[in-house]
Amino acid sequence: MLNKGPFNAAITAVGHYFPERIISNKYFEEYLDTSDEWIKTRTGIIERRRLDKDKPTSFMAVKAIEMLLKNRGIGIEEIDLIIVGTVTPDMIYPSTACVIQKEMGAKNAWGFDILAACSGFLFSLMTAVQFVQCGSHKKVIVVGADKMSAISNMEDRNTCILFGDAAGAVLLEPTEDKSYGVVDAILKIDGEGGKNLHQLGGGSLNPASHETVEKRMHYVYQDGKSVFKDAVKGMADVSYDIMVNNNLSSEQISFLVPHQANLRIITACAERMGISMDKVMVNINKYGNTTSGTIPTCISEYWHEGKLKKGDYIVLSSFGAGYTWGSILVRWAY
Ligand code: ACO
Repeated sequence: MLNKGPFNAAITAVGHYFPERIISNKYFEEYLDTSDEWIKTRTGIIERRRLDKDKPTSFMAVKAIEMLLKNRGIGIEEIDLIIVGTVTPDMIYPSTACVIQKEMGAKNAWGFDILAACSGFLFSLMTAVQFVQCGSHKKVIVVGADKMSAISNMEDRNTCILFGDAAGAVLLEPTEDKSYGVVDAILKIDGEGGKNLHQLGGGSLNPASHETVEKRMHYVYQDGKSVFKDAVKGMADVSYDIMVNNNLSSEQISFLVPHQANLRIITACAERMGISMDKVMVNINKYGNTTSGTIPTCISEYWHEGKLKKGDYIVLSSFGAGYTWGSILVRWAY
């Protein structure tokens, strides 16, 4: 269980944004040795969205936050902290949180970015929970946003078909009613996984140079098979453990909200928990793997469709580069 302060941290509003441009599997068929059938059956992806070349990650984050504020009926000046999970910040620095703060005129907010790849949203959410539980912050926005098209090698069929661009956001507020909000979390890292999934260029180890560009070091590299194997075990274990640790049965869980990297990983996770697929949030078919965006966009879309109700237990689970992985149990508050 979380070491609770005077309050629980409850999600009180959600928002999401997907770029309009749709990239179908057929698009890749036209110039790569791949097929709609291979992509669909091996990953579950049918299409994904791509942001315009001249627009950055913060563009999508701002749109998701605007939706969230509208839903909650508040202005940006009420926000006191913005945390952004992303691996595709607008630039190395300033942080995307700073860019968003300026763009939106969030004059009473401070903020920062968190880099945990596909676990970026979960790690950011758990960080935000600390500020809310202790009572020091009243309205905290947590964003998961990635423009994966900016770091995908469009000539590499192993990776480019997987990713999409998107942003999702949630608002966290304190609640004195401790039966709602973020209940528990299991978060893990294992640097041994770094060799299987990384982007080597552009940091202090390999600063940008002609050589790093020629060697395609500014793109995602993934040993898909190894990551697949580790993700199935990692995500399934923490999803199951958080349910059992909190004395919940699969019947009591309303939704599993898994990171959307591969439909086969999602299915394995649901099977391990004994949860049927109709209780699993899935949007990988429409948007691909949007990295930090997958979990908050799922939650927001399902909420907007009226599928989430007060009192629902939901389990959020992720696995990504690092390795980073984990699960968070939430009792839905509105
Ligand atoms: N079209 C056709 N064939 C392909 C394609 C493609 N797009 N991509 C790979 N193949 C081929 C391979 O070259 C290989 O051919 P070979 O047998 O002749 O060598 C064959 O298909 C099988 O390749 P695998 O890599 O074994 O395919 P697999 O079934 O494992 O699927 C995938 C690949 C989808 C990448 C899968 O491994 C996966 O989902 N991995 C985990 C992804 C993940 O969870 N990532 C973590 C989050 S991402 C992040 O943190 C940024």
